[in-house]
Amino acid sequence: MSESSGAPHSLLACGLPVPPPPLPAPDSLARARLLVAPSLDSCLVRELERIAGRGAEPLADVPPPSDAPLLCVGDALPDALRADRLLWFHSITAGSDRLLSGGLWPGQALLTRTVGRMGERMAQYVLGWMLAEAQSVPEFAEQHARAHWERLPSELVAGQTALIYGTGRIGAAVGRLLTACGVRTVGVARTTRYGPEPGTERAVPPGFDRVIGAAEDTGALGEARWVISTLPLTAATEGFFGADRFAAVRGATFLNVGRGATVDMGALETALRDGRVRRAVLDVLPTEPAAPEDPVWQLPRTVITSHSSGITTDEDIAVDFAACWADVTAGRRPGLTVDTGRGY
Ligand SMILES: NC(=O)c1ccc[n+]([C@@H]2O[C@H](COP(=O)([O-])OP(=O)(O)OC[C@H]3O[C@@H](n4cnc5c(N)ncnc54)[C@H](OP(=O)(O)O)[C@@H]3O)[C@@H](O)[C@H]2O)c1
Repeated sequence: MSESSGAPHSLLACGLPVPPPPLPAPDSLARARLLVAPSLDSCLVRELERIAGRGAEPLADVPPPSDAPLLCVGDALPDALRADRLLWFHSITAGSDRLLSGGLWPGQALLTRTVGRMGERMAQYVLGWMLAEAQSVPEFAEQHARAHWERLPSELVAGQTALIYGTGRIGAAVGRLLTACGVRTVGVARTTRYGPEPGTERAVPPGFDRVIGAAEDTGALGEARWVISTLPLTAATEGFFGADRFAAVRGATFLNVGRGATVDMGALETALRDGRVRRAVLDVLPTEPAAPEDPVWQLPRTVITSHSSGITTDEDIAVDFAACWADVTAGRRPGLTVDTGRGY
């Protein structure tokens, strides 16, 4: 299954601090009923049942009778389950925008997510499209179609600069792969999650040559050959790539694997038409799926890849649910916990 978007934006998490929910208490967890999305494969459901040590019931619009707490695994939470009984929701996707924008998140409920090996897949996707461009693959395909012979030079990505928005699980995986190819990587993050307070020297996470804040990216946009977004969709990132940011770009290719609504598509079109953005590779769009008549298909020098760069596998879900389960039952907060106030 693939990550989906299309959140009603006004309801996106607004970034206000929300106290983290308590970890599910052992007695509540022991009594909890396991509800799983009906779309999950039966082998995966058996594995989730094995991990949680109980049988699963379908995650439906109507909660099961009884007042037992609920432990849910899925990608959507029906309104009727946004209630006090919800103990823990494990999302089968990495992005939380759809879950959080669907209604008020019940403050007592833990929200964890699945990332699995998505970072590796998405890093491979990003590198694949970068190398395709560097090797003139679109031009050679076009030449082949008209039986035309013409030698074309290639570009070396080693030594070029990639500006990577988001230094989390996905952004860091992209950074690590590009670094291995000799690309200079500059990360852009919201906070100095990996280091000291703003204004002091930042510690740099693996995969990045340096990390800057979102407010200090103008110069870096002008120097980058590749601008790559892995940003989540929150109130702060909606329309994040707008006219101002694209105005600072000087011939970079823009690749978006985060969320479509982080981009102002009108501003991107203008930047593509005036050449400031060389090409665009868009795995995600503000409206998905794009209808055949959607003008997005007409954008110049653009490839659209139907939200496929990081498709979640059943193994990703089982492995991450097991890791979260091990943490919760040992009294630790899982590393894959979503901060529901921040929105990612
Ligand atoms: N295309 C696909 O198929 C696909 C698949 C999987 C995931 N995704 C998308 O990828 C997103 C990222 O996943 P992840 O696992 O890497 O998330 P993550 O580990 O939570 O990392 C999110 C990163 O974004 C940064 N960020 C958040 N708000 C920002 C802002 N306003 N300005 C600058 N940076 C900001 C965070 O900064 P801090 O470090 O300062 O907190 C963090 O580095 C998901 O939310 C999902 O939307 C897409």
